[in-house]
This record gives sequence, C-alpha cells and structure tokens, in this order.
Amino acid sequence: MYKIKFNKILAKPLDTGCILDVLLNIVHRYNPCLLGEVVSMWKIKRTRHIDYKYYVVFFMVIQVNKRIIKKRVNNKRVQNMYENTGGFKMKNKNGIMFGVLLLAILGVFFIKEKNKEKINQEIVVETQKNEVKLGVLQLLSHPALDTIYKGLIEELARQGYEEGKNLKIDFQNAQADQSNLVAMSSKLVEEKNDIIVGITTPATLALANATKEIPIIMAGITYPVEAGLIADEKVPGNNITGVSDRTPIKQQIEIMKEILPNLTKLGILYTSSEDNSIKQVEEAKKNATDLGLEIKIAAVSGTNDVQQVTESLASEVQAIFVPIDNTIASTMPTVAKVAQEFKIGVFPSADTMVADGGVLGLGVDQYQIGVETAKVVIEVLNGADPAKTAITLANEGIIYLNERKAQELGIEIPANIKEKAQIVGNK
Ligand code: TRP
Repeated sequence: MYKIKFNKILAKPLDTGCILDVLLNIVHRYNPCLLGEVVSMWKIKRTRHIDYKYYVVFFMVIQVNKRIIKKRVNNKRVQNMYENTGGFKMKNKNGIMFGVLLLAILGVFFIKEKNKEKINQEIVVETQKNEVKLGVLQLLSHPALDTIYKGLIEELARQGYEEGKNLKIDFQNAQADQSNLVAMSSKLVEEKNDIIVGITTPATLALANATKEIPIIMAGITYPVEAGLIADEKVPGNNITGVSDRTPIKQQIEIMKEILPNLTKLGILYTSSEDNSIKQVEEAKKNATDLGLEIKIAAVSGTNDVQQVTESLASEVQAIFVPIDNTIASTMPTVAKVAQEFKIGVFPSADTMVADGGVLGLGVDQYQIGVETAKVVIEVLNGADPAKTAITLANEGIIYLNERKAQELGIEIPANIKEKAQIVGNK
C-alpha cells in the first residue's frame, strides 16, 4: 500500500512540488523499507528520465539521520527521556527536524541544479545563434587562390571566428568547371549559409545568379563593375561587396619598358572566357600602345591550349604580359617554361605567378586579399549593408621580383626597381 501511494505521487508530472511531495512522503514514512522505496523510485526515474542525483542525495541524508537517531536512542539519557516524554513525541520531533533539514538541503540542491541546466541551455542557444555559417566558392586551386583562402580563414580566426567553435565553413572548389560552379552555388544557397565568399570572378558570378538575398563577399575580383557583379564600386547597390585585386596596369607596362629598354613587341596572353582578364587586356593594350609598343594578343580557351598558344605568341614577341587570369595562373609553370625556351620573360600581375616562373610583376599580396576579405565578412556579419559597403582595393601594387629567373634570362634589373622589389620564387 505504501508503495502504491508512493508511485502515485511520482506518477504526477514532474515539477518542484512533486519532488518535494516525494521527499516529504519519505520523511514521514521513514522506515526500514527505505531501500525498497529508493529502488522503486529508481525504476520510475528510468522511465521518466529523472535525474538520479536527487534520490542518491536524499537516500544518503536519510541513512545518516537514521544512524544519528539510533545513537541517541541507545544513549541512556536519551533513552530515559524517550521513555519519560513518551517515545513517539521524541521520534516525531526528530522526524520533523530531519524533514525540515532535508527539505532545505534538497531545495537548495534542486534550485542549483535547475539553474545549472538553465545556464547550460542558454549557452547552447547562444552558441547556436552565434555560429556563423560561411560558404566559400573557389573556382579552382592555384597558388594565388589557395593563398587568398588561407588569408581569409586565418584572419577570421584572429578576429575570433574559428571553425568548430563559432564558425561552420562549407568550402566548395569547382575545379574550373562551369557546371560545378552552378551546382555548388545552389547548394551553398539552399543550405542557408549566412554569408558566402566568392573567390574569382566566375565563382562570384555563379553565386550572384543563385541568390539576391544572402550577402556575397568578393575575394579578389579584378573588375566587379565590368563583370556585371555590382553597379558601382562605392555603392554596390545589391547583396554583393568585397575586395578587388586590381593593380595599376599602366605602371606595370612602364616598369617593363624600363627593364627592357629595347622592347618594341609586347605579347599579351589571357583567357577569352574570363571577364576579369578581358578588361585588363583592354587596359594593357591601351597603355602599351600609348608607350609606342607593338602589341600581339593571344587568347587561350582553357588549360588544354595554353602550351600551344604560348609557343606561337612567344615566337613573335620580346616579352609577355599576363593579367590576373585564373587559367594562366594555374598553368604558370608551363607558360614560363615555354617562354624560357624562346628566351623571353613573362611579366604577370600576381606575386604567386611571379614566384611560379615569372620575371617581375606589379601585383597585390594574395594573402592580404584574404585578410581584407575576412574584414568585410565581419563587417557585414556585424550588420553592414553590402549594398552600401564600398569595395576595398587590396593594397597598392607591390613589385615582385624573381631574381633567379631574371638572371637565367640575362635580364638586368635596374637598382631603383630592385630596391623597391620584394623577392619571390627564385626557382
Ligand atoms: N582576380 C581574379 C578574378 O577576378 C581572381 C584572382 C585573384 C587571381 N588573385 C589571382 C587570378 C591571382 C590569378 C592570379 O577572377
């Protein structure tokens, strides 16, 4: 009967009152069957997922109290008192005191546990809310783009956004395949990333087609307006903003002329399908013509014809200028090797391309592009509206020099240029 009553109490929905009821019940009905009660409660706990800590604690308190009472009852003086005052009174007195004590202890314990639970829940909700879902779409792997990505992730971490802690990164590499770009863009949008970074113009164009809502941050996009990504570099006007890696092409051609005083025929090598290159080639052509150079332009359609197109171009010119072009960047060792066979130098526009066999280039630090991109990502996460966030220009052009390559080709670098140059590659 005792057991049934107990189970009835426990069968009530679990709340503070219910637990206290149970405790009271035990205190009142304090008897040798206590162990049995605890066992039955344990069974109920298992089906109701009640934290067993509560039961263990009061079971222990009861055991201790049982001993104290026994001791007192065994004590002769107390034994007399017990008999004189009529044992039951004493027992009741003890029971009440014990009950109050137990309730106080368990009450505090219970409230503490509840608070702990609440705090833990709050922490979980807070971190879930603060976990940023960052999508990244990169056109392909080449040293420049891989360095941009590295700069992005490392700067995010320095600013407190770390993968596995409060940042979830969905990185997609399209391996230079247009259909991959389309599929990966929709995936990044469907998976509800908070913000998406586009590394390269083709990747960002694919993202722009996939979403007009999720902020898209451009990482090293040469001509974002001309590529049709944004309306204006100061006021993009849509969900896209970010960093441009544009370099002063005019200055680059001027330096080439300074290094190669006999230069009259300049080749320009680029990829016909890359929007970023088309605009740079136009600029290079204009500036070179202004400087009195004869221009020969050769376009590749993909990595497959790079060798052959470079060969035919190299046979007709004294030097080759290469814009910031993804296909050429990924095949730079081949381009450099072919040019070397014709004993001419390649002058690219990115540090990594100079390192990969170019002679000299006025370019932007690729790692810095990543760093700047991370800063824009954080700005937008903090509430900046991409539509009103002006494009960042990565930095002033830095002269990158591959000294060894220059020596191999017998190209003398004037001291004033060498002084300013940052040495790279040398392989
Ligand atoms: N600017 C290129 C684009 O708009 C991407 C890019 C960044 C790049 N850094 C580069 C290409 C270095 C070649 C080399 O697509």
